[in-house]
Order: sequence, then C-alpha cells, then structure tokens
Amino acid sequence: MTKSKDEPGPFGLRRLGRADAAAYRDLRLKGLQSNPETFAASFDDEATRSLAWFEERLQSRIVYGAFLGGDALTGVGGLRVESAAKLAHIGILWGMFVKPEARRHGVGTALVRRLIHEAGGVVEQVHLSVVASNEAAVQLYIAAGFKQYGLERRALKVGDQYCDEILMALSLNGAC
Ligand SMILES: CC(C)(COP(=O)(O)OP(=O)(O)OC[C@H]1O[C@@H](n2cnc3c(N)ncnc32)[C@H](O)[C@@H]1OP(=O)(O)O)[C@@H](O)C(=O)NCCC(=O)NCCS
Repeated sequence: MTKSKDEPGPFGLRRLGRADAAAYRDLRLKGLQSNPETFAASFDDEATRSLAWFEERLQSRIVYGAFLGGDALTGVGGLRVESAAKLAHIGILWGMFVKPEARRHGVGTALVRRLIHEAGGVVEQVHLSVVASNEAAVQLYIAAGFKQYGLERRALKVGDQYCDEILMALSLNGAC
C-alpha cells in the first residue's frame, strides 16, 4: 500500500529515559521557541539548562516520546505527580508538543491516551492548563475526556501579551 504524500508514517511510543535526554532537549527547546504562547516555561530559561538537568527531568517525571519511523523523536508529553501528600492524588499533564510536520495524524492523541493510562496506576485525577486560544490543544484534551473546571485570567504574560488559561481535569475514578 502506498502512503499518502502528507502521511508522516507509523510511529511508536515509549517512555523516555536518561539516554534520550539530548533528543528530548532538542525537541523541547524547539517547542518552547516555536510556540512560546502555549507553554508556561520559556525557551530562555530552559536553553541554559545542562544535559544533566534534562536527564534528571526524564528520571523524575513520566515523559513519553513518539518515534516516527522507529527512531526520530517526533512528539513528547509528560505526567508530573505532586510530591506533597495532600496533592499526591493529582497528576499534571504537561509539555505536550508534536513537530509541526507530524500534526493531525494522531500523535498527540496517542501520547495523551498513553499518559492517562500511566496515570491510572498512580493518581486519581489528571489536571492540565491550556492557553484558551490554543484551539488545537483544547480540542485534543476535550476529545480525550478532559472537562473545563476553571479559567485563570492573565495566567501567562508573553512579552506584552496576557494569556488566559483554561483549567481542565479528568477524573480516573468517577469521583468528580
Ligand atoms: C496540540 C498538539 C500537541 C496536537 O498534536 P497532534 O498530533 O496534531 O494531535 P492529533 O493529531 O492527535 O489531533 C487530535 C485532535 O485534536 C484536535 N486538533 C488537533 N490539531 C488541531 C487544529 N490545528 N485545529 C483544531 N483542532 C485540532 C482535533 O480534534 C484532532 O482530532 P481530528 O484530527 O480527528 O480532528 C500539537 O498541535 C502541538 O504540538 N501544538 C503546539 C504545542 C502545544 O500547543 N502544546 C499543548 C500545550 S497545552
């Protein structure tokens, strides 16, 4: 079967570890630089970080990568579990980024589903925040089952521009 021209090809998912730190850093910085309005973190902060800092992040958080054609890191997304005892039932979904040329082919959906699956064994609910104007991400999360529970006005300031963030949650045990 021939592939259509705009099809990025098959991809696989796996959890990233220390050995993936260089590829992860490259993709993470690409995301922060190309889409600054969609992340709370900033390129200027993370571009100064050492490789060891990214290695530590991949050890302390659950970060999944999508690999196109088996070896090129094409998309990433993470789950952070709060360490404070009273917050340990909550996982934070963060750092979703898919290379522009691979978008709209299900990579983001696969990453979110995988992270929700991982969260199931660890936390009771998953939260995230997304810039209100980021229609692609908002639709992605709604399709994955997240529901809006709040709106934080002027949550981010990017240059002179303020951005509102939609706060979303997914209950994993039907409790809320
Ligand atoms: C948001 C993002 C991760 C989505 O990744 P993706 O691989 O394109 O997502 P998918 O192909 O799985 O799309 C899933 C659904 O999301 C929605 N969606 C994705 N891109 C969209 C767009 N440009 N416009 C509207 N809806 C969109 C659609 O409902 C889509 O389902 P469909 O293709 O069947 O219509 C990607 O656009 C991205 O990296 N954006 C820049 C970084 C970012 O915004 N990160 C999120 C921070 S909270």
